[in-house]
Amino acid sequence: MNQKLQQAQFALEQLKAQRGNTYYPDFHLAPPAGWMNDPNGLIYFDGLYHAFYQHHPMSADWGPMHWGHATSHDMIHWQHQPIALAPGNDYDRDGCFSGCAVNDNGILSLIYTGHVWLKEAGDDSAIREVQCLATSTDGIYFEKQGIVLTPPDGIMHFRDPKIWQENGTWWMVLGARDAANCGQTLLYKGNSLREWQLDRILAHADVDGGYMWECPDFFPCGDHHYLMFSPQGIQQNTGYQYRNRFQSGVIQGHWQQGSAFIQNQKFTELDNGHDFYAPQSFTAADGRRVIMAWMDMWESAMPSKQEGWAGCLTLPRELFERDGHLCQRPVIEAKSLRQQSQPIEPHSVSQTEVLLDHSSAIELELVWDISQSNAERYGIALGNKVGDGLELYIDSQSQRLVLWRHYPEYELDGYRSIPLPASDKLSLRIFIDRSSVEVFVNDGDAAMSSRIYPQPNERKLMLFASHGSAVISEGMLWQLK
Ligand code: FRU
Repeated sequence: MNQKLQQAQFALEQLKAQRGNTYYPDFHLAPPAGWMNDPNGLIYFDGLYHAFYQHHPMSADWGPMHWGHATSHDMIHWQHQPIALAPGNDYDRDGCFSGCAVNDNGILSLIYTGHVWLKEAGDDSAIREVQCLATSTDGIYFEKQGIVLTPPDGIMHFRDPKIWQENGTWWMVLGARDAANCGQTLLYKGNSLREWQLDRILAHADVDGGYMWECPDFFPCGDHHYLMFSPQGIQQNTGYQYRNRFQSGVIQGHWQQGSAFIQNQKFTELDNGHDFYAPQSFTAADGRRVIMAWMDMWESAMPSKQEGWAGCLTLPRELFERDGHLCQRPVIEAKSLRQQSQPIEPHSVSQTEVLLDHSSAIELELVWDISQSNAERYGIALGNKVGDGLELYIDSQSQRLVLWRHYPEYELDGYRSIPLPASDKLSLRIFIDRSSVEVFVNDGDAAMSSRIYPQPNERKLMLFASHGSAVISEGMLWQLK
């Protein structure tokens, strides 16, 4: 291990020894201590899943980016591995930014962005970004191989390579910001991981489409190709869309090698909660297309910093198409977390009912019969009482499913919502961890992910209905481990 990595690992061990655990997840991947952002280099390689991630091992704040590393047999239970990359060479002096992992003839290869501040640290107006390669023979220790791609003239923001191989040709999508400050995705073609030529601008922002498109990914799913990316700078409108600081979503279309990307839909957000950014996809052992994202948002309050850590990833989610629409559901392996189960009998809810006095890691499946329910608002709550903490409810008047969080001590307050599907029943699959909630609607039609920060004595799980009653037609609750 080189000196920079050793120092980073040492700092991490020290921070970990003092880590607080009130908000530390039971079943989501988080750094051992320190800061985490984007998932990087998700790959199934040699019988094992690898997740790398943007990591600052010296503190719970973003700083010079390292690559943290964890491995898993099932994408659910993770084992931490030594830090894989540390910044420090002239081309990645100030950060090993986001990238991907590929299997290059049996060699686990990481392609990442080397980041350098040319003026002050943090001054985005003068940076140098290049794409770099690091390789490993044992899947744990990596050797840097240097720069493999420099930006075209006139482009400075040039990062987050995602690579795949098709019929012997390598392809790479890259996030960029053009001279007019519009985001774009560049497509490169390679004979090897070291030689790349620009194929085309695969897609670019119109005036309202954002000044930078981060973390692009490009893959087939169902009958379409999807360009998935995280645009910065899309203006919030006054409606329900684009409520977060930055967005993540997809453009659906068609593509084949050597051709343009024919788009047949506009950019659509992938998750409608408060905290979902920089998703990356990979191919699972059996060919499923799976994504994981950073379950946080830039510039939001992160109360776990007080405990010496920040950031976690979403559950891995399988992407699939239904009726031409991109859906997502937790990978089937997530069922291995289930421990004791508690059925919720079909019944009508007309006042608050306590399901569990203390819920730290749970999964809840609930089917509401909308056609039989007349309450103005009904759903679940997590807190000391309804109206304090987390609520996930159906608002009959606006016909929306609302996820509301209220942690004023951390200045976290507000709701996100999606329209109710046009069906009589609403089925919800809900995962609650110590500081997160993920909701999957009607078997993957929509998802909402948010960080929540209940105190240990504020984790009562309740059903509620106000001004009327609401009918549960099916329900099951599991403790997770
Ligand atoms: C996205 C991002 C990437 C960059 C990385 C730096 O969240 O800004 O564009 O590579 O984070 O940590």
